[in-house]
Amino acid sequence: MTRSDKVLRVPPFSQQLHDAVGAAYDALDLPDDDRPAFLAEHGEDVVAIVCSNSGRVDADLITALPRLGMIANQGVGYDNIDVAVALERGIAVSHTPGVLDAAVAETALGLLIATRRRMVEADRFVRAGRWSEGAFPLTPQVSGSRVGVLGLGRIGRTIGGLLEGLDCEVAYHSRREVPGARYRYHSSAADLAAAVDNLVVIVPGGPTTAGLVDRPVLDALGPDGVLVNVARGSVVDEDALLAALSEGRLGAAGLDVFAQEPHVPEALRALDNVVLLPHVGSATEETRAAMRALTLANLDAWLAGESLPTPVPEMRVSS
Ligand code: NAP
Ligand code: 8YV
Repeated sequence: MTRSDKVLRVPPFSQQLHDAVGAAYDALDLPDDDRPAFLAEHGEDVVAIVCSNSGRVDADLITALPRLGMIANQGVGYDNIDVAVALERGIAVSHTPGVLDAAVAETALGLLIATRRRMVEADRFVRAGRWSEGAFPLTPQVSGSRVGVLGLGRIGRTIGGLLEGLDCEVAYHSRREVPGARYRYHSSAADLAAAVDNLVVIVPGGPTTAGLVDRPVLDALGPDGVLVNVARGSVVDEDALLAALSEGRLGAAGLDVFAQEPHVPEALRALDNVVLLPHVGSATEETRAAMRALTLANLDAWLAGESLPTPVPEMRVSS
């Protein structure tokens, strides 16, 4: 890096990632307000971006940075980045696959158990002093149940392994059958939903999966079904989900991700048959440290003119 070369931090950012980038590079923060003035003053200096899943790196931002050569995303999902525009300009893009599988899988399992066994509602029941009035209702069990994994990738397979430990009957849908997978394949999301008690969504976000979980899928899961979404809010039609939960066409939902984060619709927050988490799938100390290290390893490799440890798959295709 020369004296004027800068790394741009695109918010929102965890304090840990903010500090790690600041300690390693000459860094600037993209402000929330008056971006045109900031970019007019500093745009020429920026050679690299560090961002995470809710920091949008769109065509306008990329275009405003004529010397940009690298976008390092802290997150395996990179639907926040306009990758096509970046690759068109020869800009490298990296993400953090593999290091977060265990954390996200345990979040999915935790949400499934909490939702199915109504644990958060049971906690409210105890706190409200209602236990002395009678027992909490019985619930169906997760162990031994039929669970569909929508997206049998790195994290989906890790979720499958945890579910096998609970003697669940696991099935899945991806666009292609996974060679060697031990689980039954269904050729559509609706077919999978119709065949299971619980559906766990873990596909990437972006246009190809937008609204993949729609009314027909929710209706196929049915009034006794549980939906868990640890993928992206865009994958589930949130209006259809709200209607299905309110009208009793879907049993319950455990959600880590939402359409307009951090906004969660008031109507969803008012329901008893949901468990809601603030996008914490990978938010463990160990996993975030590993994600940070991999993000900076990619940036270091690019600065040294070496090949990236974990480029996004589109880069391998285009090079
Ligand atoms: P991955 O290894 O690429 O797996 C993605 C899976 O989804 C693959 O099995 C893929 O198979 C399938 N898929 C892709 N498009 C599909 C479509 N249109 N219809 C059906 N299946 C489709 O990715 P990963 O590492 O497991 O991560 C998955 C996603 O989880 C990330 O992209 C991210 O959005 C989300 N995530 C969320 C959190 C969180 O904090 N909640 C944390 C980490 C990741 P085919 O290509 O064969 O269809
Ligand atoms: C994080 C994620 O929320 O990896 C992803 O795709 O959604 C999460 O791990 C995030 O990117 C944190 O930086």
